[in-house]
Amino acid sequence: MQEYTLLISEKEIQARIKELGEEICQRYKDEPLVALCVLKGSVLFFADIVRELPSATALDFVALSSYGNKTVSSGEITFSKGLSLSIEGKHVLVFEDIVDSGLTMTYLKKYLETQNPKSVAVCTLLDKPSRRKVDLVPEFIGFKIPDKFVVGYGLDFDEKYRPLRDVCVLEPWVYQD
Ligand code: PRP
Repeated sequence: MQEYTLLISEKEIQARIKELGEEICQRYKDEPLVALCVLKGSVLFFADIVRELPSATALDFVALSSYGNKTVSSGEITFSKGLSLSIEGKHVLVFEDIVDSGLTMTYLKKYLETQNPKSVAVCTLLDKPSRRKVDLVPEFIGFKIPDKFVVGYGLDFDEKYRPLRDVCVLEPWVYQD
């Protein structure tokens, strides 16, 4: 039986990334920028979009976790890898694969603000506004999607499906008991 169905194709993703890259370049011009990847889900999106940004863009990585192997947010967030660069006085653009409840981004933004950056903004490939639990609007959004469980292009279920080139909807029988 088919485990997933196509939602956003590789071609659509790559075209949107080019547009987002242009928007981001317009917004920051030549100002120093730190691009921050939120592991692990954002890693494919990050690798593709930073190639659209100026060569002086610094790259850093953090790891946060809120889901474990469940399909709904527990609301508990842990910081398992912190910043390795100083962001003081710099613009920080956080790259996320998906903003769902918004709890992860709210937690991360609050932490980043304590490090005295020039600004903090969020660029998410996918946005599920219907699931929001907090008032968070990402500055850059790739695609708004309905409330479906999505995998692929970095997004997982139980650590599977991350290598898929497309964003797909996981069939409920895969994750329901
Ligand atoms: C996912 C996703 C976001 C977060 C979004 O991460 O990558 O970071 O959940 O959910 P929220 O808006 O409800 O907080 P996850 O904890 O699954 O880790 P992963 O990126 O390693 O898969």
